[in-house]
Formats: sequence, C-alpha cells, structure tokens
Amino acid sequence: MTPKVELHLHLEGAAPPAFVRGLAREKSIDISGIFDARGDYAFTDFRHFLAVYEAATSVLTTPADYARLTRAVLEESAAAGIVYSECFLSPDFCGGGDLAAWVDYLSAIREAAEAVARAGGPVLRGIVTCIRHFGVARAKAAARCAAETAGDWLTGFGIAGDEAAGRLHDFAWAFDCAREAGLGLTAHAGEWQGPAEVREALKLGVSRIGHGVRAIEDPALVEHLAERGTVLEVCPGSNIALGLYPDWRAHPIGPLRARGVKVTVSTDDPPFFRTTLVREYQRLAEAFDWDEGVFSELNRTALAAAFCDRATRDRVAARLEAR
Ligand code: ADE
Ligand code: ZN
Repeated sequence: MTPKVELHLHLEGAAPPAFVRGLAREKSIDISGIFDARGDYAFTDFRHFLAVYEAATSVLTTPADYARLTRAVLEESAAAGIVYSECFLSPDFCGGGDLAAWVDYLSAIREAAEAVARAGGPVLRGIVTCIRHFGVARAKAAARCAAETAGDWLTGFGIAGDEAAGRLHDFAWAFDCAREAGLGLTAHAGEWQGPAEVREALKLGVSRIGHGVRAIEDPALVEHLAERGTVLEVCPGSNIALGLYPDWRAHPIGPLRARGVKVTVSTDDPPFFRTTLVREYQRLAEAFDWDEGVFSELNRTALAAAFCDRATRDRVAARLEAR
C-alpha cells in the first residue's frame, strides 16, 4: 500500500461512530439523534454537520477519553497506510479553553500518540484549531493555549468551523500570537466562501490553506497561490459528501494541480463522509487518471509542508521512500 501523509484531520471528526456510541452508553448521554438506522453519522448540510460534530464531541469529557480516541483514530490511519499525520485539536472541546485543563488533555493525547509511534505506527503531530463560529474571544484563548504548549509535538495553529461567521481579519491577533510562539499556520478558507476568503487567509500569514478549492474561481488567485507556493489541504471526499461539488470529476483538485498549485489530499472527518485516505486515492486515480507517481509527488509535497521539525521530517521521508 502507498505510504501516505495526511495534513488535514479533525481528531473528533475522525471518531468512529461505534466509538462515540460506546462512550455515550458508558456516560448515559443520549445522542441517538445524530445517527441513521445503519449507525452512521446523519446530517443534511454543512451547518447540520457542524451541529452533529459538536454533539458527537460532547461525549468526550476527559483526557482519558481523548487518549482512547487518539488510539482509535491512529488505528484507522495505520490501516490506510498513513505514516505521518497532523490532527486538529481544539482547547474549546478539550477543557473549555482553560489552560490548565488543556495541558492535561494535550498530555494525554500526546502520550497516546507517542506510544503508537514507538510501536511502529503512524507519527502524529497536533495543530490547535480555534472554531470560527465560537467567536474572537474564544479564538484568542485557544491561541494562548497553543502558544503556551507550542513545541515539538504541538506544531501548528489554525481556524475551522463556519466560514460564514465573522471576518477572518478579526482573528489576526490569534494568528500573530501563534506565529510568535513559532507555530506553523493554516486556515480553513475557500470551502464555503469564495476566492476573496482565500485572499483574507493569506493576509494572516498562513503557509497552508484548509480546502482552498474555491480559489479555482479566480485565475489570478490560482496563479498567485502557485507562485507563493501555498499548500492546499484538499479533502475532495468531504467536499463531495457536503455537496460542494457533484462528483469526483467535477472537483477542482485536478485543475488546481495542473496549474501548478501545491495540492495535498486528506480526509477531514473520514467517518462523517464515509471515506478513508485509501478511498480518496482510488477515486482520484479514477477521476483524473493519476498514477503512483502523482500520489508520491502529493505525499512529498505534504511532508515538505508538514509543521514538524526537521529530524521528524527526515525520519518520515525514509518511511515514504522505503516502499
Ligand atoms: N470542522 C470539521 N470539519 C470541518 C470542515 N470541513 N470545515 C470547517 N470546519 C470543520
Ligand atoms: Zn477541516
């Protein structure tokens, strides 16, 4: 199996439905409304997806829950051939934005991840993500948590959530705080809003954009992204499942790559979108006639854009090449 690098994965969004149901049962929390008859997550559109996501996350109430989640997610990643991934973590969900609580959650997640890596499994790094529709004040608190715990494991800062909420510019303080702490920067943009939002994200000084696919609607922006070397964390299956594009052939990842933009492939929230990175590669191979050479290029691009330190990158590169 192709060894893979995944840059865009929400830890809670990667929680298998059976795992979430198990925790809900243990804690007598009723979230039965978020599942369909087959036991999959059920939602009708993006806003509803965010609500279902937050309901699923409500069963994760302790650092130990997050340690279990990390192990469950890395098991899925290993099965897809992933050798390195970065996951989004939110102090909002891990301790409600309180620094001391966040430190406990983060250590539990990190310890679980490092045990998996020591046993030969995927190497994981964390990116603190503020949630746009939770507002600027909570984003600042998230950035402070990120800055206080920045280092060799917690390596990035970003923003996710409802792209229609607030203005990206208002989150500049949070991004400046994270940059000063040495964190890599990424922002969800150009998923639900158009090219102008991608331009706003670039003003925050990010090196990567989460999704960014709607840049395709502005040829000058596409050229600018290619020249600047901005890396897009593209999640085609997520975009198609949420109705952004009708099918794989209509997805702009092919044209973006053809115009020189650095694209990478991730799953976003795999069980929500009934996908895996293996499935993403299969569908892309069918839609764009991409071969192993293209996927190797995408993985090298992803590793070069990873927020980890050089020693980690070199170790992962050896695993990518040793196929
Ligand atoms: N949070 C989890 N998945 C997301 C997505 N695709 N867009 C914005 N926020 C998210
Ligand atoms: Zn995302």
